[in-house]
Amino acid sequence: MSAGNIDQLINREQSAIACPYPIFSELRASEGIPFSADLGAWIVSRYDDVRAILRDTERFSSLSPTGPAQSGEVLMAGIMELMKDPEMASLIGSRTMTRGRVAVLLNADPPDHRRQRKLVNPAFRPDRIRAMEPAVVEVTSRLLGDVVDDLRANGVTDIVERFAVGLPMTIIAMALGVADDDLATFKRWSDDIVMPVGNHSPSVEQVRGFLLSTKEFTEYFLAQIAARTSNPTGDLLSDIANARIDGEELTDDEQLGMLQQFLVAGNETTTNLIANIVRRLAEEPDLQERVRANPEMVDGLVEEMLRLEAPVGGLFRRAKVDVDVAGTRVPAGDHLWLLFASANRDECKFASADAVDPMRPNAKDHLAFGNGEHFCPGAGLARAEARIATEMLLAAVKDIRLAPDNEFRYGDSFVLRGLTSLRIVAKPA
Ligand code: HEM
Repeated sequence: MSAGNIDQLINREQSAIACPYPIFSELRASEGIPFSADLGAWIVSRYDDVRAILRDTERFSSLSPTGPAQSGEVLMAGIMELMKDPEMASLIGSRTMTRGRVAVLLNADPPDHRRQRKLVNPAFRPDRIRAMEPAVVEVTSRLLGDVVDDLRANGVTDIVERFAVGLPMTIIAMALGVADDDLATFKRWSDDIVMPVGNHSPSVEQVRGFLLSTKEFTEYFLAQIAARTSNPTGDLLSDIANARIDGEELTDDEQLGMLQQFLVAGNETTTNLIANIVRRLAEEPDLQERVRANPEMVDGLVEEMLRLEAPVGGLFRRAKVDVDVAGTRVPAGDHLWLLFASANRDECKFASADAVDPMRPNAKDHLAFGNGEHFCPGAGLARAEARIATEMLLAAVKDIRLAPDNEFRYGDSFVLRGLTSLRIVAKPA
């Protein structure tokens, strides 16, 4: 079959990013799996198929999780243009630019991947997350103070700008042990470095931002790693700086790769989750009142928003051997795009899949955090942040509604899906 309307999403038409669900439902209803020539990958949309592939590291590789177009190729047109500028040319040719480009975690396969996960998993154990909760409460409370001030002064606030961006960014910076440094700079690095994910035609300025932020990130964290190696301070950065895998130190490229993933993978995604929750509460006053009256529903609401509006819409695997997927033959070497956001609305798995139901018994079976060996290590932290953010927001303000001038605009990516702003009105409680 043809890939049909999914190419609208791959070509980043804003309407398809804003509402890709009819496209996904069409895909799930058709036979086999289609191949998108625009993407250079097979599109996998049904729950059972996506989950089975995620769990099969024998036959499917994670070495190119963001797709067949590697970031080098995506950036190439911009790089060629920037080579005309001698300063940029010398940066592009420097060792700094190749640092951190190694197979680690997200883009690693077993056995390396298993060893790396053993190293990072302890930092995200439930007891470590519980120990971070007081900090999450404190940061949330401070940010909500700004939200309430803004509402009092202007009658309206942007929940993405004032709240959803700051919380995960501050918490990951605290966990790494760089909390007092410049959060706005981390945010810029995170946005610029993640830019090529799901954007196959970046502008020259976007490529420049990517290169400069990668350079600054690399220099900053190499210095931090060096400081923690001689003087560990009990934070995640010290763990990574002094880690041994089977008695061997990590290389600085591996350390940088890991740090990049913590900074990038954990931020935009959690921001988007929080914004999606607030949007749904603002759009559905009955749901808002029900959750306010029954705070035990907050966990279920967080799961439902992960399921319904997956911040990572889908990632890729590469077939190591010839495989059959839903009756379609996929040759070895081909890429498959696993649509988590579609799998999560598969009626074969979730009854009334398009409806939000905080009491849904199997809500946690969604694939928004992946599944199997690459299951998101930050899931517990993201869930805790979203739960605390929701509980405290509902306690701080009443009658949350969309501002009359709110416009839904999504980030320019077919992989990462999130609102760039969300203007709401509400009454301070
Ligand atoms: C709502 C928030 C989040 C979502 C939706 C999300 C989603 C995901 C998904 C889907 C994967 C699996 C990738 C795959 O199978 O190829 C993943 C992996 C990963 N996530 Fe998250 N994530 C979130 C928050 C976080 C946080 C807070 C952190 C860290 C502080 C984090 C760090 C990572 C890392 C390092 C990986 C790679 C793990 C591996 O491949 O073994 N994520 N995430």
